Amino acid sequence: MENINWSELGFGYMKTNGNVRCEYHDGSWGKLEWHTDEYIQMHMAATCLHYGQEAFEGLKAFRGKDNKIRIFRLDENAKRLDSSCDGICMPKLPEGMFKEAVIEVVKKNVEFVPPYESGAALYIRPVLFGYTPQIGVNPAKDYLFIIFVSPVGPYFKGGFSTNPYVITRKYDRSAPLGTGIYKVGGNYAASLRAHEEAHKAGYSSEFYLDAKEKRYIDECGAANFFGIKDNTYVTPKSTSILPSITNKSLMQLAEDLGLKVERRPIPEEELSTFEEAGACGTAAVISPISRLDDLDNNKSYIFSKDGKPGPWSTKLYQKLRAIQYGDEPDTHNWVTIL
Ligand code: PLP
Ligand code: COI
Repeated sequence: MENINWSELGFGYMKTNGNVRCEYHDGSWGKLEWHTDEYIQMHMAATCLHYGQEAFEGLKAFRGKDNKIRIFRLDENAKRLDSSCDGICMPKLPEGMFKEAVIEVVKKNVEFVPPYESGAALYIRPVLFGYTPQIGVNPAKDYLFIIFVSPVGPYFKGGFSTNPYVITRKYDRSAPLGTGIYKVGGNYAASLRAHEEAHKAGYSSEFYLDAKEKRYIDECGAANFFGIKDNTYVTPKSTSILPSITNKSLMQLAEDLGLKVERRPIPEEELSTFEEAGACGTAAVISPISRLDDLDNNKSYIFSKDGKPGPWSTKLYQKLRAIQYGDEPDTHNWVTIL
């Protein structure tokens, strides 16, 4: 293992000791296996390559001051992968296998969990896909589940600092009755052009309205949205956004901190009433939004006048991180300690 500059890590892939895998054939899952090879060999007609039968997850492990490793909300990620599997006709993993696989891959790569002081974490990336060679559009008969890990720093440059976002009306990420609620690759393919264009124009990320009416807030690229006003944490209810586990946790923490919590459709006009706003997710943690531009209507929604994260976003961020790193008690039982 080479010398890693932990505090300079970005959000990228790094080779580690290995990955865990499990294969599905003839109607059942096999045993978990440890692999040091980063590559997989598959047939050129594999279903995932042509028809996108693929789902993934993203979660993190943190090293505390006490040197213990804590994995955040493992059970929630297991449930969401089950839901994604249902959503695109893939077999679910046997009960308990997700947890066992995550624990094994983290244990075997324990030296890649960044030190406490760095503020970095070990990103855990499970992926499950169909790979039967076939050209008919049908669910595959063979599947592969892999989990690899990589030490990562902040998703957005600068970590916990405000960033500008831009509303896109040109592209939809997912349809109201589509696959937006599942963590499947196709949603991300659908987002790439919007993301590239937003990036080129100097924004951190694109921002989606609902695909049907373009009236309500959906999400911020690969993260959920929340706004804060009148001591209330408001976050969208929509059939086309990913149910974020970070957002679910923040709703609970907001309540613990004495905020009211509302999960409901948020019309675009309401954006002008928020005192603070942010994007949230495993990779993004909380990424406070400085301003959201609506270029089609020559409008800007400003969520930070001095360019700094607002007081509630800061409190929520600190509370979440404190639980993840073990600085504060895990009163909701969110953490699995290795
Ligand atoms: N929305 C999308 C589209 C995402 O890709 C992610 C990242 O996983 C999120 C929201 C945030 O979800 P979570 O907090 O579970 O990571
Ligand atoms: C995550 O937050 O875990 C994500 O998956 C976001 C992105 C890297 C796809």
